[in-house]
Amino acid sequence: MTPTVFVLSGPNLNRLGTREPEIYGSDSLDDVHDAVRREAEQLGLLADCRQTNHEGVLVDWLHEAVDAGADVVLNPGAFTHYSYAVRDACAIVTTSGRSLVEVHLSNPAAREGFRHVSVVAPVATGTVAGFGLQSYLLALHALV
Ligand code: DQA
Repeated sequence: MTPTVFVLSGPNLNRLGTREPEIYGSDSLDDVHDAVRREAEQLGLLADCRQTNHEGVLVDWLHEAVDAGADVVLNPGAFTHYSYAVRDACAIVTTSGRSLVEVHLSNPAAREGFRHVSVVAPVATGTVAGFGLQSYLLALHALV
């Protein structure tokens, strides 16, 4: 059976393409998801791509990944910087033995000070940041 990877994106990422394109690029989230599904297929994975603007929904999906035994690619959006609920749910993923790759389109370390902290990074398997849409694809490669 083809292993499933959850590819989850947090708040405001549904606005990709028109949201600050000088920072996030001109690809829409559908473009990102299409590229992710194609790359995943090449790598022998099935990508389950989802986006939410709601913290609790993201927490529920991370629990669902654990129950499904799925690895996770996660762009937590702004939750990266302050959501202990998302951080704790990520820790449930990685302490269950699954991998979780934190991804960012931009490079938060090169931006405003409040973006320099990731509460997710310490419980993630690893992080890919700063490569636009490619960050998601590189994360898939990291998983295999
Ligand atoms: C982001 C970076 C975050 O700081 C920001 O809040 C986002 C997107 C990125 O993909 O570069 O929403 O996660």
